[in-house]
Amino acid sequence: MINLILFGPPGSGKGTQASKLVEQYNLMHISTGDLFRYEMGNDTPLGKEAKSYISKGELVPDSVTIGMLKNKVNANPDVPGFIFDGFPRTVNQAEALDEFLGSKNEKVTALISLGVKDEELISRLLERGKTSGRADDSDESIIKNRLEVYKSETTPVFDYYNEKMMARKVDGHGTIAQIFTRLCHVIDEVAV
Ligand code: C5P
Ligand code: MG
Repeated sequence: MINLILFGPPGSGKGTQASKLVEQYNLMHISTGDLFRYEMGNDTPLGKEAKSYISKGELVPDSVTIGMLKNKVNANPDVPGFIFDGFPRTVNQAEALDEFLGSKNEKVTALISLGVKDEELISRLLERGKTSGRADDSDESIIKNRLEVYKSETTPVFDYYNEKMMARKVDGHGTIAQIFTRLCHVIDEVAV
């Protein structure tokens, strides 16, 4: 099984690249952000709770996010692997993921981090906000908070996997096709 964490700040292209990678490697794409937006769209209790955090650019509590992620994985027992997009966002989530996969005799194959500079992230997110309908993409102060939260709470996840020699960096600037090629090179190395 291949279990990739596609890592990087908001706007780094995780979702865009994950959609292409699932076709190339026949994996299942799990975006926790998309799962939350689906719940919000249906106005479920989970969606209502998530919205109170997402609308401010804050993280949804770990217990909620981890539970949702486990349900999604457990509901798909026959896939050849997963691309986790937007998860884990905290070290606590990373530890929970490792433990969860371990309980299935599986593990994270690698974390691949897309690096993009802040100015470009902000302009990409504002641009996406014009069509995505996402309130958290349309307000610069919410975007800046998301980037702050990424730096304080999420970058330690890179260090966590880097210490285990499982983290790789990919330049996230350039065209979608260029970045895809870079990602495929790394995946072909780690997923052997
Ligand atoms: O991953 P994405 O950028 O789509 O996530 C959108 C929002 O969903 C985040 O800004 C955050 O509020 C919430 N989220 C979270 N925990 C995750 C993934 C997303 O709190 N693991
Ligand atoms: Mg995304």
